Amino acid sequence: MTVKFYSGEEIPLEMHKVRIVQKLNLPPVEERVKAMKEAGYNTFLLQNQDVYMDMLTDSGVNAMSDRQQASMLVADDSYAGSTTFTRLQQKIEEIFGTKYFLPTHQGRACENIISQVFVKPGTTVPMNYHFTTTKAHITLNGGTVEEIFEDEALNLESTELFKGNMDIEKLTALIEERGADKIAFIRVEAGTNLIGGQPHSVENLKQVRAVCDQYGLKLVYDISLLADNLHFIKEREEAYKNASIREITRELSDQAHILYFSARKLGFARGGAICTNSEEDYLAMREYITLYEGFLTYGGMSVREMEAITVGLEETMDEQYISQGPKFIQYMSDELQKKGVPVVLPAGGLGCHIDASRFVPHLDQTAYPAGALAAAIYIASGARGMERGTMSEQRDEEGNETLSHMELVRMAMPRRVFTLSQVKYVVDRIAWLYENRELIGGMTFVEEPKVLRFFFGKLDATSDWPEKLAAKFREDFGDSL
Ligand SMILES: Cc1ncc(COP(=O)(O)O)c(C=O)c1O
Repeated sequence: MTVKFYSGEEIPLEMHKVRIVQKLNLPPVEERVKAMKEAGYNTFLLQNQDVYMDMLTDSGVNAMSDRQQASMLVADDSYAGSTTFTRLQQKIEEIFGTKYFLPTHQGRACENIISQVFVKPGTTVPMNYHFTTTKAHITLNGGTVEEIFEDEALNLESTELFKGNMDIEKLTALIEERGADKIAFIRVEAGTNLIGGQPHSVENLKQVRAVCDQYGLKLVYDISLLADNLHFIKEREEAYKNASIREITRELSDQAHILYFSARKLGFARGGAICTNSEEDYLAMREYITLYEGFLTYGGMSVREMEAITVGLEETMDEQYISQGPKFIQYMSDELQKKGVPVVLPAGGLGCHIDASRFVPHLDQTAYPAGALAAAIYIASGARGMERGTMSEQRDEEGNETLSHMELVRMAMPRRVFTLSQVKYVVDRIAWLYENRELIGGMTFVEEPKVLRFFFGKLDATSDWPEKLAAKFREDFGDSL
């Protein structure tokens, strides 16, 4: 919720209070340089004890409510026929209107199963934009991914409110060109992660569904980031201004043949789910659950987490809860923008996205500008974000770099976790870094895994720029951390 101060300033006000706290550590800048070096300049490899604000991801790190914590005590551990499963199944059916629910341990497990069942070698999956693990599973099963976005989607300073929309004309053209029998399914991702947490509209999803009906194709809807998307629909889509979050959710879920989500994002807990009304699709996927995940009533999840998801899904229907993340992100983006820092506009969900191409234009894409900026932000602030650029891509079969469409650093905003003074702190340090951006140098891989290299890959700075940056920090901030 946003409130206006007497001074005229508007701020996002937390509509919750903190009842459990976790101590944080903010090491001095010299130690941050050392920690970054030891982590191979990869923020995934930092030890969390060296991190002040963990803005790596919003996945599995959202704050639980008192009601979620309380619900965990009544979890039913039975291997089969667990009442915990039934409670979650009923909540999913109530909210999304889907009869069948397959539990998985997290989002990518859903993608593994959906891809194994529906992606055949030589088929294509058109989607509004890829997500790293989605693309990896589709290609592993011999399929290819085609991103069908509107031209504005990659414009980092746009006024388009639904950059996650699919371009319907391009979609039909692709299906005509490839033939409907070569399309495994159409995938739409809510709150499109890799282009800055950007939403799609209800209208667009309905149009995609109409195309599916025209060609006899399945619509697979990834609702991991649904909470943010719901908030944006309510705020930005005229036809849904007066609709409740619950009504909007149902309008969306009714369009899909298969829904899946990472409950590390949706539902403020940890787990995953595939939901459908098709008995045939349910049966086709069911055996993979027992093979990869666990028995059908837990699918690799802890029953305590399942209870928390049930309550978390209900909380997702509460506008005050789901608006907190996007409102904080909007605040952070606005404040950075006022200080000249290039951020993705309009601000999306999930996190504040900083445009490394404009922050460090002196770095070539092969020097991993977004990776270098993520390392520099950690050195300047102790906050860790995530590289979302060329480092997150995979080399082609000849070993050439696949240059990313965008070079972004995502400063994720775990839901209900940070206070506004923490957000102000990180804004200050990033603004300082921007003033000193010419000090930031490039990076090169020293250990480069073939698949999803951004998780484990180790890099080195191409010069002593991290030390120089730390020295300038000392000069400007004196003894301050
Ligand atoms: C849109 C989207 N889909 C799928 C996934 C994969 O989910 P998980 O991390 O639970 O495997 C993510 C995770 O970040 C995501 O953002």
